[in-house]
Amino acid sequence: MDDFLRQYGPVALVTGASSGIGRSFATELAGRGFDVVLVARRLDRLKELADTLRDEHGVEVTVVPSDLAEPTAAGEILDAVAGLDIGLLVSNAGFGVKGAFEEGEAETLSSMLMVNCEAPTRLAHGLAPRLKQRGRGGVIFTSSVEGLMGCPYSAGYSATKAYVVALGEALWAEFGPSGVDVLTLCPGATDTEAPRNQGIDPATLHDLMSPDDVARSALDNLRNGPTHVPSARYRGLFDTLLAMPRREALTAMASQIGH
Ligand SMILES: NC(=O)c1ccc[n+]([C@@H]2O[C@H](COP(=O)([O-])OP(=O)(O)OC[C@H]3O[C@@H](n4cnc5c(N)ncnc54)[C@H](OP(=O)(O)O)[C@@H]3O)[C@@H](O)[C@H]2O)c1
Repeated sequence: MDDFLRQYGPVALVTGASSGIGRSFATELAGRGFDVVLVARRLDRLKELADTLRDEHGVEVTVVPSDLAEPTAAGEILDAVAGLDIGLLVSNAGFGVKGAFEEGEAETLSSMLMVNCEAPTRLAHGLAPRLKQRGRGGVIFTSSVEGLMGCPYSAGYSATKAYVVALGEALWAEFGPSGVDVLTLCPGATDTEAPRNQGIDPATLHDLMSPDDVARSALDNLRNGPTHVPSARYRGLFDTLLAMPRREALTAMASQIGH
C-alpha cells in the first residue's frame, strides 16, 4: 500500500460524483486503490461509474443517491456510510447561477445555500470525530476562485464559495494537529457541465482546465492547504486582484465579465 492510500484510505466519500470534477476525483481515487462512495442525484450515472470503477480497478464502490438540497440529505449519507472506514471526504457537489442578483429565483438561491454550504458543513461535522480519532485522513472542499472575492453577477454563488473557503481554512487549522489534512480547492474555468448549465460556451473561456487535471492537482496538493488554485493563470490573476484596493479589484472584475 502506498503512502497516499495509507494516509487517506481506505474509503473516500465523493459528492457530485456523477459528472465533472467529482467524477474525476472518484476515478483518480479508485486508480490509487481507494474504495469509493459516490453521491449525487443521477443514479444512472453513478451506477455506470460504479461498474466502470469496479471493472477497471477492482475496488469496492458504494452508491448513495441523494439530493443535497434536501435538509435531511447529509444525515442520510452519514447513516449510509456509518459502517465504512472513511479516510477522505471530498465535498465537491455544487452549482451556480449567473446574472443580476435580483433576477435569479429565490428558491434556486436557497437550494444553492443547501448544496454549496449546508451539505459540506454537515458532512464534515459528521465525519470529523472519526477522522480525528483515527489520527490521519483528509477533507477536500471544492470552492472556486469566485470564493476568493465577491464576484459581481455571480453574487449568490460567489458568497456560497466564500463560505466554503472560510470553513475550509478554519478546519485546516483545527484538524491539522490531529493529522487530518484539509484542502479547499479553488478551480478556475473547468471543462465540465457546469459552464454549459450556466449558459456559457466553454470554448469562450480562457485557460480552461480538464476536470481530471483539477482533481489530480487537488489530490497531489492535499498536504499543501489551506487553499489551492490549480490553474497558474487564475492563481496569478487572483494574486493581483487580491493585492489591489477592494473597490478597484471589484471594478476590474466587473469590467472583465462585460457588465
Ligand atoms: N466547472 C467550473 O468551471 C468550476 C469552477 C470553479 C468551481 N467549480 C465547482 O466544482 C464543483 C463541481 O462542479 P463541476 O464543474 O464538476 O460541475 P458538474 O459537472 O455540473 O458537476 C456538479 C456535480 O454536483 C452534483 N450536484 C449538483 N446539485 C446537486 C444536488 N442538489 N444534490 C446532489 N448532487 C448535486 C451533480 O450531480 P447530479 O446532477 O447528478 O445531482 C454533479 O455530480 C462544484 O462545487 C462547482 O461549483 C466548478
